[in-house]
Amino acid sequence: MTERLDDKTIVLGVTGSIAAYKGAELARRLMDLGADVHATLTRAGAEFITPLTLRTLTGNPVTVDMFEEPSEWQVKHVSLAERAAAVVVAPASADAIAKLSLGLADEFICTVALATRAPVIVAPAMNDKMLSHPATQEHLERLRARGVRIIEPETGRLASGAVGHGRLADPQVIAAAVVEAVAPGDLEGVRVLVTAGPTREPLDPVRFLSNRSSGKMGYALAEAAARRGAEVTVVSGPVSIPVPAGCRMKAVETAAEMRREVMRRFPRCRVLIAAAAVADYSVAGAGKKKLKRGDEPLSVELVPTKDILAECGDRKKAGQLLVGFAAETEDLLPHAREKLAAKKVDLLVANDVSQPGIGFESDRNAGYLLLADGAEVELPEMEKAAFAERIIDAVVERLGAREGRRRRR
Ligand code: PMT
Repeated sequence: MTERLDDKTIVLGVTGSIAAYKGAELARRLMDLGADVHATLTRAGAEFITPLTLRTLTGNPVTVDMFEEPSEWQVKHVSLAERAAAVVVAPASADAIAKLSLGLADEFICTVALATRAPVIVAPAMNDKMLSHPATQEHLERLRARGVRIIEPETGRLASGAVGHGRLADPQVIAAAVVEAVAPGDLEGVRVLVTAGPTREPLDPVRFLSNRSSGKMGYALAEAAARRGAEVTVVSGPVSIPVPAGCRMKAVETAAEMRREVMRRFPRCRVLIAAAAVADYSVAGAGKKKLKRGDEPLSVELVPTKDILAECGDRKKAGQLLVGFAAETEDLLPHAREKLAAKKVDLLVANDVSQPGIGFESDRNAGYLLLADGAEVELPEMEKAAFAERIIDAVVERLGAREGRRRRR
């Protein structure tokens, strides 16, 4: 990872917060890292610090009122947006966050954020009550889902004098996030397809068979891959967690729908990660009428679903990489080894879902990573986000190894 920002244009938006003066410190830090910083103040931001401060620090003009010089800003917001290696909004007030989330464009920094395709980093700073308000949280969630990096504010003394959550993150932390965002990811441009969550197999129009998958493992994998530069699409069963940041989403319900959406996309993806808990059986003859209660036992016939991962294993082309999971309650490794071979996957993550605190629904996981060449690595218990990073590390390593082999041929 490059640790400097030499020759990189960074657009810095300072908005209306008492922490605006720290925007000047951030500008300084970004410049120390070699960046060409173009600062802009919102009208509220200019109430807290002057354009002169930022202009003197950065050596570049500072835009406050977009309508001051129409001929210039018209061109400028687009050219800056195109040139920017990153756009940083710090401090970001509740008002600025709402505007960015809604795509409003009445401030210069908002027009740049809309026009750019560079990473956008938002560092909120506000009163703790404003930060925890559902409106602000919804806006932050929406920005996260679009791939905007949100730098968590700190807990400390706020402008009101009270101690609370909402103080701007340390400018050093924000500058480090900018460096990370600008560094090319090790999955840059790689198309990754992830399946996640459970499927629902209808019994009748109001009842279904399903399982306890929350989607957390699959979503953590999708988010980790996207953060590392991959173009990620998630085909997800019904879950109640937010869309992973920076990913495209296709929501499905049944195993058959999941199969259709995966098979449609599989030929164009480089990596498939199958973390979904797909039903192995669906209900034969599920009707359109609600089953009536009766006194006699009721039998239903279950028919096997198609195995999506195995089908992808059969259709896999040279260069494609398959990552499967094995959710087991006994004989973890022997069963996982069988699945690795039977489904022709390159990497298989074995997790023992009978263990308390890991697997289904939990925020944590543990298991083994099995490789097609016979290698097996134990993954100790950790947060699913960290578990996902370990799996993505292995994916990157396998892709790199193949590149190397191809180049040597
Ligand atoms: O969603 P969470 O609450 O975070 O829980 C995570 C998890 C336990 C669901 C996850 O870690 C996991 O183990 N996912 C796979 C669950 C599963 O269905 O395992 P399996 O051993 O039955 O299937 C093996 C592999 O075949 C899996 O990659 C599965 O996606 C795939 N499969 C299975 C059946 C089917 N019809 N089609 C498939 O593609």
